[in-house]
Amino acid sequence: MPQQLHQLSSFHIGTAVKWPELSQKSSYSHLALSQFSSFTPENLLKASRIQPQRGKFNWQEADAFVKFTEQHGKRMHGHTLLWDRDLPPWINDVPGDEKVLLDHVRHIMTRYAGKFSGWDVVNEAFTETGELRPGSWFKVGGSEYLTKAFVAAEKADPHALLFYNDFDLEVNERKRDAVLSHLIKLRETGVRVDGIGVQLHLNLSTTRLNKIASSLKTMATENFLVHISELDVSVNPYDGETNTKEELFAMQAELLVQLFSLYSEINPSKRYGITFWGVCDNHSWITSDLKQVDYPLLFDDEYRAKPAWHALMKFFSNS
Ligand code: XIL
Repeated sequence: MPQQLHQLSSFHIGTAVKWPELSQKSSYSHLALSQFSSFTPENLLKASRIQPQRGKFNWQEADAFVKFTEQHGKRMHGHTLLWDRDLPPWINDVPGDEKVLLDHVRHIMTRYAGKFSGWDVVNEAFTETGELRPGSWFKVGGSEYLTKAFVAAEKADPHALLFYNDFDLEVNERKRDAVLSHLIKLRETGVRVDGIGVQLHLNLSTTRLNKIASSLKTMATENFLVHISELDVSVNPYDGETNTKEELFAMQAELLVQLFSLYSEINPSKRYGITFWGVCDNHSWITSDLKQVDYPLLFDDEYRAKPAWHALMKFFSNS
C-alpha cells in the first residue's frame, strides 16, 4: 500500500496487535507496520497471560513483542496492569495481600522500563454509577489500590506516562466526573497520573459527538493527556442490520472523520493519540472473540483498505 495513514497525522495513530499474528502472518504485520505508528499488545500483558501462577511470570511472548516492536521503531503502549478480567484464578486466594499488587506492577514495569511510552496502569475500575468496583484488585489492594498502583508504577519506570483507562467516560457524565475527581484527588496527594484512556468502542447509533467532544476537552483542560485507546465502530451491533455493506461503511467512515476532527481540536500537547482496537475486521475482538458478524475496523478480511481508511486519508490531506 503506497500511502501510510500514520504519516499524515500530527498525533500517533495506533493499533492493538495480536501476537502471534504479528510475528507469523506477514500480510498482517505488513499492514500494521505500514499504517500505524503505535502498538498496544491486545492481550499479552494481561494478568492471566503474564503471571499465570503467583510469582511465576511468563515473559516469553511479551519479550518477543517488545523486541519486534522496538526493532520496527514503533511507539509501545502497555495494556494493562490492573484489570478485573483476564485474571489468573489464584488472584482470588490472596485478598488483602497488597504485596501481590505491588509486585505485579513492579515486575512488569521494571522489566520493560524505558520501552513503553505509556501504560494503562488501571483499567475499568469504576462502575457506571461512579463507584469503585468491588473487584479482585480492590480486594487485593484495598480501597486505596489506585494510589498504590500509580505510585508503584512511577517508581518502576519514572519515564513512562501513566494512564487510567475506561469505557463510557465520553458519554456517562456521572462516571466521567467520578473518575476525574478521583484522579484529581490522587494528584493533589502527590500521585502522578498523566492521562486518561477513553476506550470508544462505538457503533453507528453514536450521535452524541458533542458530548464526546466536551468530555475529551474537559479531560485536557484538567491537564490530562487524552488517549482514544480502543477505537472501533461496530456496524452490526444487534445483528439485524438491513442496510447494505456499502451504506454501513459510508456511515462508519463519516463517524470516524467526525471523531478525528473533534480530537484534532484538543490542545496538541494533550493528544497522546488514537488507537484502533485491531488491524482488520477478521481479527477484531468483536468478530474473533465475541463471534459476531461485524466490520468494525479500517481494513477488511483481505487486508484491503475500507472506505473509512480512504476518508481518513482524505481528512488528513485536507487538514
Ligand atoms: C479484549 C480483547 O480484545 C480480547 O481478545 C480478549 O479476549 C478480551 O479482551 N476493554 C479492554 C480490552 O480494556 O482489554 C478488551 O480487550 C476489550 C474491552
